[in-house]
Amino acid sequence: MTLLERHAELSETERKTALDDSCAIIRNNVETFTYRCQNHSSVNNYYPERDNDEWTTGFWPGELWLAYEHTGDELFSHVAQIHVESFYHRIVNKIAVDHHDMGFLYTPSCTAAWKLVGSDRGREAALLAADQLCTRYQGVGRFIQAWGVMGERENYRYIIDCLLNLPLLYWASEETGDNRYREIALAHTETTLKYSFRDDYSCHHTFFLDPVTGEGVRGETNQGHDSKSSWARGQAWAIYGLVLGYQKTGNRSLLDLFEPVSEYFLSRLPADLVPYWDLIFTEGDEPRDSSSSSIVACGFLAAAESFDELGEAEKAGMYRSLAKKLLKALYDHCRVLPGDDSNGLVYHGTYSKKSPYNTCTPEGVDECVSWGDYYWMEALTRLGGGWEPYW
Ligand code: GLY
Repeated sequence: MTLLERHAELSETERKTALDDSCAIIRNNVETFTYRCQNHSSVNNYYPERDNDEWTTGFWPGELWLAYEHTGDELFSHVAQIHVESFYHRIVNKIAVDHHDMGFLYTPSCTAAWKLVGSDRGREAALLAADQLCTRYQGVGRFIQAWGVMGERENYRYIIDCLLNLPLLYWASEETGDNRYREIALAHTETTLKYSFRDDYSCHHTFFLDPVTGEGVRGETNQGHDSKSSWARGQAWAIYGLVLGYQKTGNRSLLDLFEPVSEYFLSRLPADLVPYWDLIFTEGDEPRDSSSSSIVACGFLAAAESFDELGEAEKAGMYRSLAKKLLKALYDHCRVLPGDDSNGLVYHGTYSKKSPYNTCTPEGVDECVSWGDYYWMEALTRLGGGWEPYW
């Protein structure tokens, strides 16, 4: 019996309990986070408040929208729309938007607002964010530059996470009829496919290109253990990003690549199925990154829908079952219960863990992380069926 065969799936009762409990915790957080944003990660399992100036502030409004969908309670929609105003202000005034994370910011907050309640403000803000994302495009090398001053050799790179920023561009093209957004997304995807994946289907976190020739130069990690290993969340962004890319383009090669990239992730899971922060670790007392599992579960559930549509029922069933097993492990080992000493939803996330070989600033190690909470709720919602994605 394989490791995964030994594990149980999340039941429908557990799914509902987890969503109900998440909504109860979110309700308790509303007072603190109506006019203030949630920090990217908790401190001793409590999120501090902060301004709307990080790449992560879209996840809390995303949770509010998911809570609104689950409960129908207008309170959640009302508070989410207050955040939409804040996001509009941020993009109009270009506050901390000189990076590529426009999709992470504006999709779960503002695109969701447009899709769910027809918020014109949300639509306008998200379109401005898509324009901003296009300014990061580098024609030499055909990619969206992640961070730093545009064009500098030391910043001439993209990161695997950016696959989750691309749905904003596909949406903007559909919304406006302007194909420019889509073309940038397609070019960035092509470059990602060319360079990001190693022969064993693990992936590089970041990849540098030459600013003169546009040729690939090297993979390098920022948040992973080292440049030869696979950062768990990078692999997770790749898994979900490939499926979303397939769904936006119909390009079957993305769905085909999703399978071995997923297999690599699954093959590196420890006995309890909660991934370590880097997939080089499969046992021991290194911190976990529970958020990677929620992201992968979303990818598996989205893929299951696509395989169903393609008439590939066996694969659909397999990925749905795998998603339920990952979620069951989070339910058993990482879920915050109402009344716990925390204002998050999922314990044991890791934002950035310093190693001797990486370049990140250490933050949020073994804490709740804002996207971990959001994707936990999204996965539980997706599993219920019939969900219209914000992405
Ligand atoms: N996108 C940055 C991160 O996943 O930490």
